[in-house]
Amino acid sequence: MYDKVMESSSYIKEKVNRKPKVAVILGSGLGDLVNAVEDLEYIKYEDIPNFPVSTVAGHEGRLVFGKINGVEVLLMQGRFHYYEGYTMKEVTYPIYVMKQLGIEKIIVTNACGGINTSLEPGTLMLINDFINLFGDNPLIGINDDRLGTRFPDMSEPYKLELIDKAKKVAGELNITYAEGVYAGFMGPYYETAAEIRMIGRHGADAVGMSTVPETIVANYLGIDVLGIACITNMATGIQKVKHSHERVVKIAQKASVDLCKWVSKIIEVI
Ligand code: HPA
Repeated sequence: MYDKVMESSSYIKEKVNRKPKVAVILGSGLGDLVNAVEDLEYIKYEDIPNFPVSTVAGHEGRLVFGKINGVEVLLMQGRFHYYEGYTMKEVTYPIYVMKQLGIEKIIVTNACGGINTSLEPGTLMLINDFINLFGDNPLIGINDDRLGTRFPDMSEPYKLELIDKAKKVAGELNITYAEGVYAGFMGPYYETAAEIRMIGRHGADAVGMSTVPETIVANYLGIDVLGIACITNMATGIQKVKHSHERVVKIAQKASVDLCKWVSKIIEVI
């Protein structure tokens, strides 16, 4: 793993001479942030040695380097989902590479379903904690002490300091947001109503199929994480109509206008 990550990051460093400290992982329908990037250079995942390749429609599959509001950033356009059949190590592989590229902070975004009934489709939610219901996690296996400790602390998976800064920026930009706990299921089916009732009672405000693995590895590697979830629908049993991926992407695209403004400004202040 370590050698593979080194090979991937060396390739990227050879290709692009950029030193971003902040990375953004773009969720489904939330790719518009790329349009705010100046001085853009990109590398396709398929060209990076050892990198997994994205298979989901609407996910581009490239690392984008450039500046947003004058700040060097790295955007991950297209993420790897556990439900696609990747192992947890593959899902989180880009995070290991980011660490070697010098990334210190990651803003992770996603589309998800709302469980807390005070949320509604279109709401942006700051994630303040997660519940891992994947039934797996990326740190299982022999630990490589060069990367991180065997038993990482997970008491502040989403850095409070970053959450506070994001709230301040939201106030300045007049962006309304919610805050809550994100539960990650492996998917790819939208959860059952019983599953949603169960996790709602156990403290989940929103549910999705991503973000948790990347958050775990970022914390393991000592990278600070800010999580912003876009509520694209209400979860099963709360919403009375059946789920549709197309509607999820449509709502995410609408919300991405505010998300882009918010994230662009956050990048400036963190
Ligand atoms: N459940 C899981 N993942 C999702 C949902 C949902 O309701 N909406 C968008 N991604």
